[in-house]
Amino acid sequence: MNDMTQPKVVGQRTPRIDGEFKLTGRAGYTGELHVDGMLYGYPVPSTIANGKLESLELDEARAMPGVVDIFHHGHFETLHRSPNSMAHGDMVNEVRLPFEDERIYYHGQYVALVVAETFEQARAAAQRVVARYTRMSGAAPGLLQTDAEGELQESAGTSRGDPQAAFGGAEVKVDSTYQIAAESHLQMEMHATLAEWHDDGQRLVVHESTQGVFFQRNAMARVFGLAQENLEVISHYIGSGFGNKLFMWPHAVATTVAARMTGRPVKVVLPRQQDMSSGGNRPASRQRIRLGADRSGKLTSVIHDSTTETSLVHQYVDGCGSATPSFYACDNVSTSQRVLEVNHGTPCPMRAPGEVSGIFALETAMDELAVELDMDPVELRRKNNAELDPASGLPWSSKHLDECLTSAAERFGWAQRNPAVGSMRDGDEIIGYGMAACTWSAGRQPCEARVELRADGTLFAACGTQDIGTGTYTIVAQAVAELTGAELSRIEVKLGETSLPAGPLSGGSMATATVLPAVAAAVRDALDAIKEAAIGSGGAFEGSDADSLFADAGCLTDGNRRVSFEEVLETSKLSSVNGHGSAAPGNEQNEYAFRSFGAHFVEVRIDPDISRVRVARVVSSIDIGRAINPPTARNQVEGGIVMGVGMGLLEKLDYDPRDARLINANVADYIVPTHADAPEIDVELLDYPDFKHNEFGGRGVGEIGLTGVAPAIANAIYHATGKRYRDLPITIEDLLAAD
Ligand code: MOS
Repeated sequence: MNDMTQPKVVGQRTPRIDGEFKLTGRAGYTGELHVDGMLYGYPVPSTIANGKLESLELDEARAMPGVVDIFHHGHFETLHRSPNSMAHGDMVNEVRLPFEDERIYYHGQYVALVVAETFEQARAAAQRVVARYTRMSGAAPGLLQTDAEGELQESAGTSRGDPQAAFGGAEVKVDSTYQIAAESHLQMEMHATLAEWHDDGQRLVVHESTQGVFFQRNAMARVFGLAQENLEVISHYIGSGFGNKLFMWPHAVATTVAARMTGRPVKVVLPRQQDMSSGGNRPASRQRIRLGADRSGKLTSVIHDSTTETSLVHQYVDGCGSATPSFYACDNVSTSQRVLEVNHGTPCPMRAPGEVSGIFALETAMDELAVELDMDPVELRRKNNAELDPASGLPWSSKHLDECLTSAAERFGWAQRNPAVGSMRDGDEIIGYGMAACTWSAGRQPCEARVELRADGTLFAACGTQDIGTGTYTIVAQAVAELTGAELSRIEVKLGETSLPAGPLSGGSMATATVLPAVAAAVRDALDAIKEAAIGSGGAFEGSDADSLFADAGCLTDGNRRVSFEEVLETSKLSSVNGHGSAAPGNEQNEYAFRSFGAHFVEVRIDPDISRVRVARVVSSIDIGRAINPPTARNQVEGGIVMGVGMGLLEKLDYDPRDARLINANVADYIVPTHADAPEIDVELLDYPDFKHNEFGGRGVGEIGLTGVAPAIANAIYHATGKRYRDLPITIEDLLAAD
């Protein structure tokens, strides 16, 4: 019926179906929601990173206009922790509950929540709360300010062959250490919660800007001791997340308690400073890479040892080595992962978590190896291309890294590169060409969906996943249009509610491949239902065989006669038919390895007189199977590239080495790329549908574009200057520093 090798809507450029809502301000983001009788909350953050809260002076704040209540350790409900299980869907970003005790573990930890009639009143009163602390000496410093090694995470390491022996005997070696500063997600919309209790505290509705409504519902049910059925979490529009909104944070718990204890709905939108200090970060990392190779460039050993930060209230492991075992063909590979507890805010996943840091180290080390070998770095990647997944031994479902390298190199003009350091100039500027490969795993999760065909001529699709700005609403509509032939404008999509069929996190670049097969199953179920109606007594195709009917252009047809869905339904006196579908990864997971690959080529221009470096051009080819909607998919890669410029050159959470306080939790001092920093970008998405992954042929695209950008920049800077920068970000100060 539908030939997915020749789709009509999937794989085509279509406008975003939610574009009009966003453009006209009708898209309801959590922070903008208003309900009658609502109060506003404003958290009070600790101003020290390590110590004990001795007392809170609240009298002045309480007497201020509009203040309703102030919650803190001595005035709060007794709650339970979430089990924090990925498998059971109740993982949280911080297991410690707000105000659980009076210990202060990081700068920005909430010590109170002021609730008032207006936002301004809550903020003004919060600023009058006086907290007295006993500072404790010996705040655990950040990873980049200590030689401490951290605790080994046995389960996060891997090994094959004998990497130590192979490294010892290697003809050519690289042994380097790389450090990356902690980064902020700096998503556009800050964390936000609106909590409403109904039925005398028996039923809870929470609006949250979250990448996972079901995860938050499940965790809140545990924390508040509620049946999941008595709790709904809603997230219709999200001003992005990049991973810091995958799981629940303490502000949501504090807001919900405040709503119950005041008996009124309460909304909290974190100010940017608190979002940056207490709402997640990409942890700092230190990585040592050892590469061994023979003279021809064939890798004989890869040893990748990583340490990342976590906080004292929650263990988060940022798995830097997780792409390494699958990246290149090599018989002797090991990875290890350590975690160091520091007095910083709790880190969490951030776009391509772990791997983006790991790939910076690995792909910079590969460039160092190419220099040692006097070999073209593109050639070195080709030489070590893995025909099978070396980690699992399984064949790839679909892999075209070679074509990505060839195509991007050609469009970039790599052949014109003079490999001699500092040899390429344009006037006063030194030009550097660098490249790196990139990769991200292609996962799938179980998912359910529901589709209705309605007598009013509309179609409706629902799934309890979210659109975090990537285009999920649009691609769900495309899938429905593809399978029914209905116009996109007739298709309504509902996401982001726990009342809908269970859907996945918007994370891990898994939503597209997870949701679309479930939607397709629901469409087929709905089509079966409408055919059933059509062939029944008094139906539009009474007496026909259901198998002789098929959907075309929003109609049922037997090949001769076409009757629109709405007419079929009206003829049978039905308001609608309902289809339910579910899908999950299957046997193919044991037969193939699923991972996307690509390549970035970068031109930097350096003005040596003022040590200014600009990323002038990025040319990329990425293989993500089929892009369901090419412009939105390309937009994900472009955004990743700009984020990679930030990671490479600008972004760094600055902690005071003396007392572990976060110095630059604001967008004036935490520097991100602006439009003026954005390079000229040329992204090509190869089009090899991966039908082993799912029937639509698409793998995820949200994260891969960021991986490989920072090392390509560092490698280009090496080409321009001959200086090897192994720490991120590479700042003007670093460029100015004497050799
Ligand atoms: Mo992504 S770090 O899974 O939002």
